[in-house]
Amino acid sequence: MNIIVITGASSGMGREFAMQLDRGLKTIDEFWLIARRVDRLKEISNSMHHRVKILPLDLTQETDVLLFREVLQEEKPVVRMLINCAGYGMMGDFCDVPMEKQSGQVDLNCRALVEMTGACIPYMRKKSRIIQLASSAAFLPQPGFAVYAASKSFVLSFSRALREELRKKQIYVTTVCPGPVKTEFFDIAEQYGTTLAIKKYTMVDAERVVREALAASSKNRPMSVCSLPITAFWAMTRVMPQDPVIFLTRVLKERNQ
Ligand SMILES: NC(=O)c1ccc[n+]([C@@H]2O[C@H](COP(=O)([O-])OP(=O)(O)OC[C@H]3O[C@@H](n4cnc5c(N)ncnc54)[C@H](OP(=O)(O)O)[C@@H]3O)[C@@H](O)[C@H]2O)c1
Repeated sequence: MNIIVITGASSGMGREFAMQLDRGLKTIDEFWLIARRVDRLKEISNSMHHRVKILPLDLTQETDVLLFREVLQEEKPVVRMLINCAGYGMMGDFCDVPMEKQSGQVDLNCRALVEMTGACIPYMRKKSRIIQLASSAAFLPQPGFAVYAASKSFVLSFSRALREELRKKQIYVTTVCPGPVKTEFFDIAEQYGTTLAIKKYTMVDAERVVREALAASSKNRPMSVCSLPITAFWAMTRVMPQDPVIFLTRVLKERNQ
């Protein structure tokens, strides 16, 4: 049985990946959709043409990740694609955001992503694909978004190294690093802080990010950086010394308040 596993499938980009792949792929037997909100997953599943297995899991809970491993062991599918979208960010100065919300970002964005990747690889075959949702926040430390940016740097670094390790097995890894995307992400992110005004001008739709990410993955590209301003930002962070850019981010954040 050929499957696609999508974490964070109940909204935003995870949902969009499910929708676009449902329309485009004929060789997949089942989609496994993972998130906590089961009602949302059911709604999405009802609108899809493929068979769907709904896995209402909280990936910050060890027991839920273990449950996922058990389902894999029982069903022994071929994982054709793993898309790790589950994640959240909390804006605001480090000391102003409750610690469980800060460390929760590390639990979900980093630990759960590593565990889901590790659980799926043994079930992958030649030309299976992994898509990891990082962010343009991965390119640089960000005052006012410190833990989130660090967690996404982790995702980018881990995934680019993993890509090289998996080259011999012909398992393809693509890391997606968009700037701001119109999703429910900001409902959670802005509880203790606000988005920099400059970021609002570079906001793109989930549809475009996902379309470009799937195209990059099918061509086995290492990264997908959606939109021209974010590509320019990425290039700038490669050539400029980091300190002045971090300083500028802090100044912009203070002006924003
Ligand atoms: N939106 C942006 O501007 C942006 C930009 C760059 C990168 N990203 C990254 O892209 C990914 C998708 O974000 P999005 O914009 O699509 O946001 P979103 O609409 O808020 O989606 C986040 C998804 O993660 C799931 N999730 C949250 N906590 C979970 C948990 N403990 N266990 C399992 N699933 C959990 C949510 O489902 P439940 O609540 O139902 O569990 C939801 O399906 C994230 O990794 C995010 O960091 C977002």
